[in-house]
Amino acid sequence: MIKATTINEVKENVREWKRQGLTIGLVPTMGYLHEGHASLIERARKECDKVIVSDFVNPIQFGPKEDLATYPRDFEADCKLCESLGTDLIFHPEPEEMYLDGFHSYVGVDTLSAELCGKSRPIHFNGVCTVVSKLFNISEADKAYFGQKDAQQLAIVKRMVRDLNYNIDIVGCPIIREDDGLAKSSRNIYLNSDERKKALILHKALTKGEELVREGEKDVKKVIKTIRDIIESEPIARVDYVEIVDWNELQKIDKIEGPILAAVAVYIGEKVRLIDNFVVE
Ligand code: PAF
Repeated sequence: MIKATTINEVKENVREWKRQGLTIGLVPTMGYLHEGHASLIERARKECDKVIVSDFVNPIQFGPKEDLATYPRDFEADCKLCESLGTDLIFHPEPEEMYLDGFHSYVGVDTLSAELCGKSRPIHFNGVCTVVSKLFNISEADKAYFGQKDAQQLAIVKRMVRDLNYNIDIVGCPIIREDDGLAKSSRNIYLNSDERKKALILHKALTKGEELVREGEKDVKKVIKTIRDIIESEPIARVDYVEIVDWNELQKIDKIEGPILAAVAVYIGEKVRLIDNFVVE
């Protein structure tokens, strides 16, 4: 496995692979890899000749009061996992390599970025779109793999690719969960053992909500109330949002008629904010 820290190293390898007519799959990550990331890498491995994993904690998608400094990092473990899954190249640049002095160019998708997590994280999705655009250009990938755990991110990246005519297929992959249902996330490491147990309330609430929708409940308010009530039955859980939006535009709806995304963001304890969701197509 090639370990690249510079954009030029990645481009040189990509140039050679393209010359040989090989297809490239990109798995963008911020590192501290878990089974969720592994599932994306495995899918890319099956579908593409060459697999690039980017491992970069992207500073411009963190707000001033967010966890950029403490975001978990373990590049050695990431390399082991990537190598065991047959990754061809891991790209691990320093922030200065990605953002040169005088960097002033940003990419953003408005409207879709304003709802859900965009309300409490106003700069987040522009930071994501900008780094993802750079990674698409650097890797010249044919396909890029994103988890549905970050459903809003997935919808926004798909829209950016459509609107700006990027030559890449975006592959959305299912949420990977722990055996007890907690969605895998690098940030789960922040939970102490009591919070870890209580965090299961997200999955419990969403499972009930999904059951209602699949049984034919059309009233959004009713489904949201059911989800919110279950979450709020757990004293250390504080709801940031519980929302149901249409899965294409991510705008609020009153009635469930087409594909929907039901998404929650919940603080468990003082500081740990977890997200989870379900989609009904
Ligand atoms: O989902 C993530 O880990 C990040 O938002 C991404 C897509 C790697 C961009 O930094």
